Amino acid sequence: MARIELNNIEKFFGSVQVLKNVSLTIEDGEFVVMLGQSGCGKTTMLRAIAGLETVSSGTITIDGREVQDLKAADRDIAFVFQSFSLYPHMTVEENIAFPLRAVRSSKADRVAEVKEVAKFLGIERLLPRRPSALSGGDMQRVAIGRALVRRPQALLMDEPIGALDAKLREQMRAEIKRLHIARNSTSVYVTHDQVEAMSLADRIVVMHDGVLQQVGAPNEVYLHPANLFVAQFVGSPVMNIADVAVEGSGTDALLRVGRSEGFRVPTATVSHLNGSPAKLGIRPEAVLLSREPGEGFETETTNVEPLGSHDIVDVRVGDETLRARCDSGFARGDGEKVWVTLDPARAHFFDAQTGQSLRRTA
Ligand SMILES: Nc1ncnc2c1ncn2[C@@H]1O[C@H](COP(=O)(O)OP(=O)(O)OP(=O)(O)O)[C@@H](O)[C@H]1O
Ligand SMILES: [Mg+2]
Repeated sequence: MARIELNNIEKFFGSVQVLKNVSLTIEDGEFVVMLGQSGCGKTTMLRAIAGLETVSSGTITIDGREVQDLKAADRDIAFVFQSFSLYPHMTVEENIAFPLRAVRSSKADRVAEVKEVAKFLGIERLLPRRPSALSGGDMQRVAIGRALVRRPQALLMDEPIGALDAKLREQMRAEIKRLHIARNSTSVYVTHDQVEAMSLADRIVVMHDGVLQQVGAPNEVYLHPANLFVAQFVGSPVMNIADVAVEGSGTDALLRVGRSEGFRVPTATVSHLNGSPAKLGIRPEAVLLSREPGEGFETETTNVEPLGSHDIVDVRVGDETLRARCDSGFARGDGEKVWVTLDPARAHFFDAQTGQSLRRTA
């Protein structure tokens, strides 16, 4: 177990800066997921923690001890790589036992350790096999077993299940979570899959272009995205983002989305905006459609995506298209007349220039 602290980490490859002033504390026993697009610096950050990569500046401490100048072998951190990285000429048993070769313990103890880890991962029957005779899921189970066998202080995983099919990924996700809880290890997990991040993390770290955008519990990141990047990266389908102008005062204000005639919302929803140019962010589940004429904005459906459990319906609002999450079968096709309202409690506003969230202070 370990508490890992990153302080002002910078990393350059030549003249290209890949990590920009990264500071983060990972608590002992915590499961932290680094989430971001390809190339944003996730692997580099993980490798820096493990000691597989040097940092250009900044410090890394593990339980208060500075480790940034220590070799990987002296940090007691295990790493599961993005690609399957088993030794093909060794059996599963030998692969898992490999990190123990330097440990001064008896052969019998080593065999017992490997058996225990294999049992825990449900792969005992695979011990005599070679990696070429394993499925993708089993290969990653073996890779995880090899990482766990030394009982490391922290376990770092770099997209460990990214190469597996959807069903197996779901199953492995549950296994990794169970494993984390059982071992109570500090875990840092990298992925570009927001569903994986939401389902596994105690806290999600959203990264973009080498910069930490937001650190928070999955719900916090989903419900209160700190900026436009996070808003559009977390959640599927993505949050609707639209240009908006606010008019009026009194109890109601008018929210003109995409130069439309607008939506009436309580003034309290928008009173913190102070007239500065803003963008509206609204998730598809907060765009409410009705077939009955009412308070809402009259428009037509422009596209329907039936997804089984629900439909995603596009509607035109001024010169913007908003996507709404509806019960399946709600709309039968394009060009149907509907009335749109927005749930003001779930409306987000962002500074049009900086993209930072404009949150209500009260
Ligand atoms: N050894 C290296 N030398 C030069 N540039 C590198 C090196 N390793 C990574 N980079 C660059 O640093 C940036 C971040 O790479 P990194 O592998 O950390 O991204 P990532 O977030 O893990 O991406 P992915 O999701 O594709 O794995 C990329 O632009 C990459 O090209
Ligand atoms: Mg990577």
